[in-house]
Amino acid sequence: MNASEFRRRRRQLMGMMGPNSVAILPTSREAVRNRDVHHPFRPDSDFFYLTGFAEPEAVMVLVPGRSHGEYILFCREKDPDKETWDGYRAGLEGATADYGADDAFPISDLDDILPGLLEERERVFFAMGTDPALDKRVSDWVAQVRARARAGVQGPIEFLALDHFLHEMRLYKSRAEVATMRRAARLSAAAHCQLMRRVEPDMYEYQLASVFGHHCAMHGARELAYPSIVGGGNNACVLHYVENSEPLKAGDLVLVDAGCELECYASDITRTFPVSGRFSEPQAQLYQLVLDAQLAAIDKVRAGNHWNDPHQAAVRVLTKGLLKLGLLRGTLANAIKSESYRRFYMHRTGHWLGMDVHDVGDYKIDGHWRLLEPGMVLTVEPGLYIPRGAKGVAKKWQGIGIRIEDDVLVTRGEPDVLSRDVPKEIDRIEALMAR
Ligand code: GLY
Ligand code: MN
Ligand code: MN
Repeated sequence: MNASEFRRRRRQLMGMMGPNSVAILPTSREAVRNRDVHHPFRPDSDFFYLTGFAEPEAVMVLVPGRSHGEYILFCREKDPDKETWDGYRAGLEGATADYGADDAFPISDLDDILPGLLEERERVFFAMGTDPALDKRVSDWVAQVRARARAGVQGPIEFLALDHFLHEMRLYKSRAEVATMRRAARLSAAAHCQLMRRVEPDMYEYQLASVFGHHCAMHGARELAYPSIVGGGNNACVLHYVENSEPLKAGDLVLVDAGCELECYASDITRTFPVSGRFSEPQAQLYQLVLDAQLAAIDKVRAGNHWNDPHQAAVRVLTKGLLKLGLLRGTLANAIKSESYRRFYMHRTGHWLGMDVHDVGDYKIDGHWRLLEPGMVLTVEPGLYIPRGAKGVAKKWQGIGIRIEDDVLVTRGEPDVLSRDVPKEIDRIEALMAR
């Protein structure tokens, strides 16, 4: 993502904000893992979307029309001592020279400078309610400006949810964003192929997960978009199984839900395959059903369809199949209406995908499912989950969890499956694993 992309985004946002406004946007806080150890730092997605700045302890302020510069970055100053211990910093010089800020100030001066920036600004764009400590500081800054009313200083009169405007922007991916997401999806797809080649009985789930991380790292993605889910057999029936602590058993399926992150853009792919390379008959029957549902859902990812169309298509195929296999009883219409399929398919068919794996953007507008438009990216991920001991279910179906997940771009024409490079048909998976 080059500097002009970030500049374009800031301009677009400032255009929406209009004159006499100001936007305040902090990055994430560092999170302690244990005592002196921190979790790897990941910038806040909204903040990074507008700045490309990946250091902690930073706040972006946009002041449209300000003569001394519209884009102000508060960040850590350069400090040779601290940098010796904790790593390099862009500093104020870097903020302007490398990140395009018009003006940069030390983050420690935030409380001194911010009130002045709020003077004569009617509207404040700020994501209230995400960080209580910052909410308090913003209201203190506003109070300081208001206290000067008798000196003729006009303070803000309107507060707007910055996140709402930004999330609407983030929902529509630019050409550069699609290119990055396509690279991330391709890399993850290649890593999933690698797992199909490398899996073997008695390998631990976390070991298979590490093969995924290793492949991504060796090809340029040092972060994953979320902790990998690697569930063998019955463990695949836990939707967000991240313990990954058990050995994989010959004869079981293994579900792998994993995706790398590139330049803060996520990929999110799930494949389910047999630990020993061949699907059993009952596994194949359920798998084919999920695949048919996924293909039907992907076919609905078209501009003009609404958000729920892919889900409805998947539910219909799955329910029909479950009735045919004897896992559900009654008529198709009744099973769909009563949602009896939810015993085996309890989640929705997808979510927006972007900088966050469950990306931002409204799913409904004025109470109605939103229409799909070119540039939106979503996942399509139906599944079936039949845990061991499921009452009234034949033994042969038990201990099987299956999900198939791809990342799909809405275009003016056909759905564009960004993650298409990893096989999902039974014969293609078996052929890849046999090699
Ligand atoms: N990896 C989380 C999800 O598929 O939603
Ligand atoms: Mn997903
Ligand atoms: Mn997933």
